[in-house]
Amino acid sequence: MAKPPPEARLFDAIVIGSGAAGLTAALHLAEHGRVAVLAKGGLADGSTAWAQGGIAAVLDAGDTVEAHVEDTMVAGAGLNYRATVEYVAANASAAIDRLAALGVPFNPGETVSERWHLTREGGHSHRRIVHVDDATGWAVSQALIRAAQAHPNISLIPHMAALDLITHRHVIGTRFPDRRCHGVYALDVKKRRVVRFVAPATVLATGGASRVYLYSTNPDGATGDGIAMAWRAGCRVSNMEFNQFHPTCLFHPQVRNFLITEAARGEGGQLKLPDGTRFMQRYDDRLELAPRDVVARAIDAEMKRLGLAHVLLDLTHLGADFVRGHFPTIHARLLELGIDCTQVPIPVVPAAHYSCGGVMVDLDGRTDLAGLWAAGEVTQSGLHGANRLASNSLLECLVFGQAVADDIVAQPVLEPPPVKPWDESRVTDSDENVVIAHNWDELRRTMWDYVGIVRTDKRLERAAHRVMNLRREVQDYYGNFRITADLIELRNLVTVADLIVRSARMRHESRGLHFSTDYPGILAEAVDSVLDPETPRET
Ligand code: FAD
Ligand code: SIN
Repeated sequence: MAKPPPEARLFDAIVIGSGAAGLTAALHLAEHGRVAVLAKGGLADGSTAWAQGGIAAVLDAGDTVEAHVEDTMVAGAGLNYRATVEYVAANASAAIDRLAALGVPFNPGETVSERWHLTREGGHSHRRIVHVDDATGWAVSQALIRAAQAHPNISLIPHMAALDLITHRHVIGTRFPDRRCHGVYALDVKKRRVVRFVAPATVLATGGASRVYLYSTNPDGATGDGIAMAWRAGCRVSNMEFNQFHPTCLFHPQVRNFLITEAARGEGGQLKLPDGTRFMQRYDDRLELAPRDVVARAIDAEMKRLGLAHVLLDLTHLGADFVRGHFPTIHARLLELGIDCTQVPIPVVPAAHYSCGGVMVDLDGRTDLAGLWAAGEVTQSGLHGANRLASNSLLECLVFGQAVADDIVAQPVLEPPPVKPWDESRVTDSDENVVIAHNWDELRRTMWDYVGIVRTDKRLERAAHRVMNLRREVQDYYGNFRITADLIELRNLVTVADLIVRSARMRHESRGLHFSTDYPGILAEAVDSVLDPETPRET
């Protein structure tokens, strides 16, 4: 006999994601009620723990919030929302203070007047990045997890993969007809059953979607789940074509997603061709510290021009002590791989790094759906525009994590509705897991080959056809077979790929991270590419 579905679990708020955005929101929400934090893997499996360079904030007397705002707008190629940029930059130093109070051991300054050591990254007109050596994200993640573990109102629930938002459509009876989010269905990955989490407030903090590309600096779970779930639940998404490629991912046959921080160029690292010559002077006056889109395109152009598999990032002239002192994690990891970066240059290539687009939110992190908020890389808040400025992402997570919590606690308390259990009556276990593995590879390769750093109409059209076929196949599979963690991710990746391709095809210009040889110019007016699930699609 089939087992009865597990009881619905009721909370005051559900946070999906245990990175910087999710845990910041949870810690503030927990002062007012019971909070569940779901993570599809371990608690530190998101991008947050992998962050290297640091967090941007105006902390030096010679720097100004206005300069941080201007640098962010310049990198974003005018597509940023000024109000959001000003809001985030103005709240940055308070966010750093809160992390320091939680025990994040930021590197101290080198003079009495300098509280923290500030490093430099591309596009910043000033030294502005607080950091914990070259492993800032790990320190931030551990401090947030420790604080959440110690909080009596927070239930941390790892290995619980959210699969679809609960909306008015899933409510039993007619007492709750309004369009609203009431929580989330999630797969208990270990027990292999679907659980209902019900709450008046749900926060999406599921991170980005860069694993939609074959080569990425991101952890495996960056599959755009939150973007796809919000889209299915009726929320608009925007600017999905702006996927940032980090210029310097390690090129190594065994290790495909190890980042070499931008701070390495900030501290004087030089990009070189195999013959030892520098090339950035041919592309931009800011050389290695031009914004990421410029540097990634320059590397891509040199690799294509000379038929190279990679270029080189040279730190050897900085001195062995300096390199070991500033970049201990990178130095140690490279040594394990047989590369002593104090003696030889590091082979590097651009790789997909950050999703600038996502679920549209306002300054309170509200989405289009009542009861659903979002924060962090899953969103398009207006901060990043067409290209994110380095080290503004963790900052966005911290500022919006708090904004979302403040807005949620100001809402009236609502009664939870009765929610239908997940229906598995029409599906069976799959004996064809090869379909998932094959489609996964095909999708990522298609995105890499046709929707990469440089785009053309023809390549985007090819991508659109392939993604459409994959979408149909995956949907068919999803309708017939029991949910698994891999199937959840593949279904979401296909949705996100479709959104990226559609957005890219809508943009008839080259702006920021979206560069098309068919439209090399930039239009006078900067306009978001907004996709609305309620609008019938044209392609
Ligand atoms: P994440 O930290 O990615 O967390 C996502 C969470 O959501 C995880 O807990 C995950 O398990 C969970 N999740 C996802 N899907 C589901 C689901 N279906 N069900 C349940 N849970 C789910 N930014 C900077 O500002 N400075 C840096 O120095 C920097 N360095 C970086 C270095 C690397 C290598 C990478 C990859 C990124 C870097 N970034 C940096 C970007 C930054 O780390 C991320 O944008 C940021 O950490 C995202 O935080 P988040 O909380 O939005 O998501
Ligand atoms: C890096 O350290 O280069 C990553 C910084 C970022 O992505 O903001």
